Amino acid sequence: MQTSAALQRIQPSATLAMTSRVFELKRQGIDVIGLGAGEPDFDTPDFVKEAAIEAIRAGKTKYTNVDGTPELKQAIVAKFARDNGLTYAENQISVNSGGKHTLFNAFCATIDAGDEVIVPAPYWVSYPDVVEFAGGTPVFIAAGAAQNYKIKPEQLEAAITARTKWVVLNSPSNPTGAAYSAAELKALGEVLERHPHVLIYADDMYEHILYDGFEFATIAQVCPSLYERTLTANGVSKAYAMTGWRIGYAGGPAWLIKAIGKLQSQSTSNPCSISQAASVAALNGDQSFLKERVAAFQGRRDLVVSMLNQVNGMTCPRPEGAFYVYPEFAALIGKTTPKGQVITTDEEMIAYLLDEAKVAAVHGAAFGLSPAMRISYATSEALLTEACTRIQTACAALR
Ligand SMILES: Cc1ncc(COP(=O)(O)O)c(C=O)c1O
Repeated sequence: MQTSAALQRIQPSATLAMTSRVFELKRQGIDVIGLGAGEPDFDTPDFVKEAAIEAIRAGKTKYTNVDGTPELKQAIVAKFARDNGLTYAENQISVNSGGKHTLFNAFCATIDAGDEVIVPAPYWVSYPDVVEFAGGTPVFIAAGAAQNYKIKPEQLEAAITARTKWVVLNSPSNPTGAAYSAAELKALGEVLERHPHVLIYADDMYEHILYDGFEFATIAQVCPSLYERTLTANGVSKAYAMTGWRIGYAGGPAWLIKAIGKLQSQSTSNPCSISQAASVAALNGDQSFLKERVAAFQGRRDLVVSMLNQVNGMTCPRPEGAFYVYPEFAALIGKTTPKGQVITTDEEMIAYLLDEAKVAAVHGAAFGLSPAMRISYATSEALLTEACTRIQTACAALR
């Protein structure tokens, strides 16, 4: 028996694989510090939980509209107007079972064999695999630490062909935390204005997690001429610490929203009714709790950046947002561990750190830029200090 050709084109998510590995090691009683998972350690705010409990009591436990309740769509319309200066009608909003599902639906609804999708690297692990599953071809633009992990307009221009279907822009970025300013987005937008056949997937999942007063911008807002062909994707997972509730959403052209709804009607049907009610509360509620959480993340970022830059052979840029750092370590490749193993790839480095330091991170190759690793600092300062100390010790032991 064989699985489908489409399934054979994709890999299991490397980040989820590391998360399961850490669960397993912890179950065996091993003192491992997991810095691999992409989720806030904070809890879902109480007012959101209360709204969900209330929804259950009120009997909101049945099917809803396939692509979202009118209440949630209205809350999303209001959010886009309030935070992004974007005007959408209800038929321009789609609600899906998590941000990953938004991506999956959008790409599977639009990509044909031979279509190209431009993905800046390093990238969130799901972009290329979903493109491949849909039958398309990812086209990568390399943007390393030297250019602050951001693509340049000339790189974008060079990557666009007649077959380009989508360009993905993710700011702040998973896995680097890099964020594009309005001016940087405008420069990329000027390139895209010259190529009217290209759709834009703006993944704004980390919109609210930005530091040092960095101002969030999204391309449909900065370049109104691109509004008609931009899908502005977002979700409640990261800002509201609701990764388990599985609600993602997007605003975009009505034809695309309708296409996503058609696919959803024959796959998952509506996103969880209770999670939708909770998301209405999250989006409409008092947003002030975010400030405190972002301040905590910023302190952790500074701690981790400073400690990792003390490692000989490691360079850790200071990101503008999200809760990841992406240190590079070309100088450590080729070194030998105390057990005599030569480290030849970042995957081997991650295995060494897991075995010797009991710290779990994810290797850069999974995100398309090596040798590097992604560290999620969404955990306490005490654990981060311990983890970085272990990394320092393990790296200092390399010869
Ligand atoms: C950039 C980016 N977009 C979208 C998502 C999807 O989030 P979820 O499916 O958990 O809502 C993630 C999650 O890691 C992400 O990092």
